Amino acid sequence: MRFSLLTSLAALAVGAYAQSSSVDAYVASESPAAKAGLLANIGPSGSKASGAKAGVVIASPSTSNPNYLYTWVRDSSLVFKTIIDQFTTGEDTSLQGLIDQFTTAESILQQTSNPSGSVSTGGLGEPKFNIDETAFTGSWGRPQRDGPALRSTAIITYANWLLANGNGTSYVQNTLWPIIKLDLDYVQNNWNSSTFDLWEEINSSSFFTTAVQHRALRQGAAFANAVGQSSVADGYTTQADNLLCFLQSYWNPSAGYVTSNTGGGRSGKDSNSVLASIHTFDVDAGCDAATFQPCSDKALSNLKVYVDSFRSVYSINIGIASNAAVAVGRYPEDVYFNGNPWYLSVFAVAEQLYDALITWDKQGSLQVTSTSLAFFQQFDSSVTTGTYGSSSSTYSTLTASIKNFAEGFLAINAKYTPANGGLSEQFDKSTGSPLSAADLTWSYASALTAFAARSGKTYASWGASGLTVPSQCNGNAGPTVSVTFNVDATTVFGENIYITGSVPALQDWSPDTALLLSSANYPTWSITVTLPASTVIEYKYIRKNNGQVTWESDPNNSITTPASGAVTQNDSWR
Ligand SMILES: *[C@@H]1O[C@H](CO)[C@@H](O)[C@H](O)[C@H]1NC(C)=O
Ligand SMILES: *[C@@H]1O[C@H](CO)[C@@H](O)[C@H](O)[C@H]1NC(C)=O
Ligand SMILES: *[C@@H]1O[C@H](CO)[C@@H](O)[C@H](O)[C@H]1NC(C)=O
Ligand SMILES: *[C@@H]1O[C@H](CO)[C@@H](O)[C@H](O)[C@H]1NC(C)=O
Ligand SMILES: *[C@@H]1O[C@H](CO)[C@@H](O)[C@H](O)[C@H]1NC(C)=O
Repeated sequence: MRFSLLTSLAALAVGAYAQSSSVDAYVASESPAAKAGLLANIGPSGSKASGAKAGVVIASPSTSNPNYLYTWVRDSSLVFKTIIDQFTTGEDTSLQGLIDQFTTAESILQQTSNPSGSVSTGGLGEPKFNIDETAFTGSWGRPQRDGPALRSTAIITYANWLLANGNGTSYVQNTLWPIIKLDLDYVQNNWNSSTFDLWEEINSSSFFTTAVQHRALRQGAAFANAVGQSSVADGYTTQADNLLCFLQSYWNPSAGYVTSNTGGGRSGKDSNSVLASIHTFDVDAGCDAATFQPCSDKALSNLKVYVDSFRSVYSINIGIASNAAVAVGRYPEDVYFNGNPWYLSVFAVAEQLYDALITWDKQGSLQVTSTSLAFFQQFDSSVTTGTYGSSSSTYSTLTASIKNFAEGFLAINAKYTPANGGLSEQFDKSTGSPLSAADLTWSYASALTAFAARSGKTYASWGASGLTVPSQCNGNAGPTVSVTFNVDATTVFGENIYITGSVPALQDWSPDTALLLSSANYPTWSITVTLPASTVIEYKYIRKNNGQVTWESDPNNSITTPASGAVTQNDSWR
């Protein structure tokens, strides 16, 4: 008995060592390959980004099946967050020129009118553009409201570095703050409207989007204060609190996971939630579950449920022990390219586990709660709830096993990465061969951030520490403006003038509930209404006489409301 136990312990140690050393080799070769692959996809001089304007990130050089030769705000922002982190932590000081090109390129895209609108009427929610910085006008899942949040987080990270390095008043105030403010205002005003998710498929609410919006406004409030905009900061904080409240609603307590999407007829088990956790990691927040920190009980429980959902759906996972790493993808019901593992989803699992290890190490303990018990029992079925200090054997056993589990996910990607280190979007669920878009820039960024976490790297806090979830969740009706409609209309006795139009405040085109105007200044009829700001609104006046309704002639009238203030619209009956 003792002999066999020792033998199996030795075998386990050798196995773990062998895996770690092969993962070491993978990290050593893949790090430069991923960095080079990422830089090759950025214009103007990236070797695979021909035609892309300066600072524009192509999603992939693939032009057919699928055609990804476009620039997505989400992908670009995640890629540049990685670059900005490398620059601001001194890992690569050569990147500043590229970062400046990125902020300039994004400021141009912000001002490019597109099918989602103009800069002031919703255009910031547009997910993708042509690589020459013109609008993409084909049909698409739009809007996607995570883009402005991720972009502002990336640029704030850079701006904070500039402020700390003596370049505050001129460049940050005059050039970067206006770009950042546009994005944060968009998030502040629009977070409570439906959005397409990060996979561009479901129009509902998305955990990833809510989580990164929360981070953006929280970090944005601190930044706004740093540049002397305290009343703007207060507005961001108000909506950050509302977002933090809303974020909790995705948690499914009975099944122990985050329901990532509230739509689409899916389980909601989704890489979305793991990506949210790693992209809102803040080591200063410890294992706080309100912000789903990587080591929080909710995020760990979610990770287990998510990973386990792929054990039987990919044939390359068959035969792998039920507590060992497996290939994972976006969500188990995925049918895109027949539904396969994604490199970035596998990297994200490893990264969450490394982030958790970093935090436990920093705080000198780990806690097992009833929520995270099933996660921990994968590694030691005898573990019970409690707090285990770093000198305890339970802590050592669990953290060693979890490190090994994390390494296992890197070993999966290592196994299915071709010899040249190229990372496509997916690999085949049956053969393991690379699939879909080659050289996906986001795949490369996800390798770099996972490797950085493996090496213990952390970044400045974004303010996740010590937050209190409001006891009551409020939505955000968004900012409003006061609009006075005046219409010159002569009427016969008994006839009245009403208004109705394309928003609830104008009764959604209903003649029955249309709003009555005042004739106090006859023949000018007037009404003042509160309408959503920065919105294109269509409307018509109607006459009613003894129940008989007469509409104005076509076309519909239209008004674009301003971002704030009060306006008067003067019309004549048509
Ligand atoms: C501040 O940084 C920007 C962006 O890199 C640069 O263009 C500018 O010259 C810098 N100004 C100073 C005073 O360092
Ligand atoms: C708006 O916020 C409220 C309160 O958190 C929430 O119940 C509702 O689902 C949200 N709707 C959207 C589309 O975000
Ligand atoms: C997305 O869903 C919202 C709310 O259900 C709806 O108003 C909107 O028209 C939908 N957008 C698209 C493009 O389907
Ligand atoms: C005016 O708006 C209504 C409601 O959206 C629409 O049905 C109608 O076609 C519009 N009229 C014109 C002329 O565009
Ligand atoms: C509408 O008429 C009012 C009163 O005559 C005037 O003060 C206002 O400037 C006018 N507004 C526009 C947009 O013409």
